[in-house]
Amino acid sequence: MPDSIIKYIKELFPNQENIPLHEPRFTGSEKTYLNECIDSTFVSNIGPFVEKFEDSIKEYTGAKYAIALTNGTSALHLSLAALDIQPGDEVLTQPLTFVATANAIAYHKASPVFIDIDEDTLGMAPNNLFNFLNQVVEVRDDVPYNIETGNRIVACIPVHTFGHPCEIDDIVSICEEVNLPVIEDAAAAVGSFYKEQHTGTFGLAGIFSFNGNKIVTTGGGGAIITNDEAYYKKLSHLATTAKVPHASDTVHNDIGYNYKLSNLNAAVGCAQLEKIGGYLENKRELTSKYFEALADSNIQLIEEPVNTKSNYWLNALLFEDSESKEAFIKMAQAEGVMAKSVWTLMSELEMYKDCFSDDLSVAEDLSARIALIPSSVRI
Ligand SMILES: Cc1ncc(COP(=O)(O)O)c(C=O)c1O
Repeated sequence: MPDSIIKYIKELFPNQENIPLHEPRFTGSEKTYLNECIDSTFVSNIGPFVEKFEDSIKEYTGAKYAIALTNGTSALHLSLAALDIQPGDEVLTQPLTFVATANAIAYHKASPVFIDIDEDTLGMAPNNLFNFLNQVVEVRDDVPYNIETGNRIVACIPVHTFGHPCEIDDIVSICEEVNLPVIEDAAAAVGSFYKEQHTGTFGLAGIFSFNGNKIVTTGGGGAIITNDEAYYKKLSHLATTAKVPHASDTVHNDIGYNYKLSNLNAAVGCAQLEKIGGYLENKRELTSKYFEALADSNIQLIEEPVNTKSNYWLNALLFEDSESKEAFIKMAQAEGVMAKSVWTLMSELEMYKDCFSDDLSVAEDLSARIALIPSSVRI
């Protein structure tokens, strides 16, 4: 069976010696918009495409505010900075994620706390979160504390893994009970909806990545969306070196960051967002072909959770055991088909292995058995 899947993938992406996991497509006005930037000389983070890109993100997601940033990692970092996170604080997140989620917490000298994932969504499991908050968290003066470590908990960052929405409305309502802001790591979830509402719009904020391996790319780029005006103002100020507006003097009133996206990158993003509808259809069609090919197999393709519409950013195969997954990856790579294991769990990385964590048995089991397979938009 694995060899017939590999053969099938090669047929789906013909004339490619090496088939990557996810490569970008530039089929719209990218070059025209880039030329406009160059002709206008507006190539840094001031320029009409930055605002246009932010407007397009707002329109597409339904969020009130959007800030275009240098990448998804800086978006996560900034989202926590604007919550006044302090060294020693804790942030709840999940172990199955790209390292940026945990790193953004650690950049603030705070610690991630890992909550297990749900086997249907691969995102944070609401039940585990609920039990964790009930057993380990105490709210004092409206602030949640971890009673075992004594540390303040400042945010919860669930992830819409591979673009599949997690059970975000449950997660947000559970966190509301203890006054905990939710930042959705929707890095890979542009074009993914939970109950017809775009991911990233349920919690206090959502972050996106527009890296070259995402459905919509700006080369490198990211964004934060939010509906909270005060939070947005703080994010905007910190993202632009905390510069106080003034006609002639350059004054900064906080330790800010130089995190805004450039006009060049935003120009590419504007062209890309114009094409997202077709890209999403193309990817759903690819996934339905994978479902057909795997119909009689004991390899499971991860399906969009109920009540959601996933962008199917990366198709993930779940094998019966880690040995068959490893064998598949080896065979695929030998044939020029990129297949990869999922990220090593954050709780297993040297930097984060001693962090406080919940029982992580679902993440441990699934992460050993998942392989990612080529999922680009086909031309
Ligand atoms: C879940 C998750 N969070 C954060 C990021 C970071 O985004 P970026 O690579 O744009 O910094 C990624 C990137 O793939 C990601 O997958």
